[in-house]
Amino acid sequence: MTIQPVVQVTGLQQGYGQKIVLSDIDLTLKRGQILALIGPSGAGKTTLIRTIMGMMRPRAGQVLVFNQAVPDRLLLARIGFMAQTDALYESLTGAENLTFFAKMQGVGHEEMTKQLTYAANVVNLQSALDQPVKNYSGGMKRRLSLAIALISKPPLLILDEPTIGIDPELRRKIWEELHRLAHDQGTAIILTTHVMADAEEADILMMIRNGTAIAQGTPTQLKADYQTNSIEAVFLAAGRQQDAH
Ligand SMILES: Nc1ncnc2c1ncn2[C@@H]1O[C@H](COP(=O)(O)OP(=O)(O)O)[C@@H](O)[C@H]1O
Ligand SMILES: [Mg+2]
Repeated sequence: MTIQPVVQVTGLQQGYGQKIVLSDIDLTLKRGQILALIGPSGAGKTTLIRTIMGMMRPRAGQVLVFNQAVPDRLLLARIGFMAQTDALYESLTGAENLTFFAKMQGVGHEEMTKQLTYAANVVNLQSALDQPVKNYSGGMKRRLSLAIALISKPPLLILDEPTIGIDPELRRKIWEELHRLAHDQGTAIILTTHVMADAEEADILMMIRNGTAIAQGTPTQLKADYQTNSIEAVFLAAGRQQDAH
């Protein structure tokens, strides 16, 4: 029996109106892998995430999630999603937001307290759970959005810029939890970042620049291929190659 990838993108082209934003994107994400989409602002990372989530129909090519073509509403129950822009109920408390989204993701009454405690713990929000979200700082809202993505322990996590506005100590803790989820529980994780340090934590990288993948592979492979010891140098070298073409 062959093991199906969790996410399979083939020959994807995507855009808005006349504008082409992504071309020739191919990627495979397996169970237990962490994939980081890395690239500067405007590269097309969020557009790719939205397409994998089924929020935009592929203009060309194919996107399969758990072997189903997207969009597929039923898939959403199996995906923990953190959007780049927080979508929270400002007048509700952190705990109420978590409970609301947990119910939507099918978390049962018996597990609710345990899951809520777990998710709030990962992002250090325990002490703020009873406050309305309108009193939260920007960083606290990001953390709550991440907790919401984690709350139902989904087999696929899709996180758009999860480390923005997170202090280094908490960032470390979040990475440890993402590693544990992927490597111990088999969770598949896609995240976007423009922070090179995040790239080092991922199992596979896809570097995106001007809507195309300029380099793809494990951090070790990429550094060897480009004969350098930093991911940032790989990105710059791959970018120069793209410009030369
Ligand atoms: N709703 C939209 N309508 C038109 N263009 C958009 C829209 N959203 C993003 N874009 C454009 O698509 C490109 C890629 O954007 P995006 O996917 O948000 O990049 P990233 O997440 O890497 O910063 C940019 O040029 C951006 O201006
Ligand atoms: Mg983005």
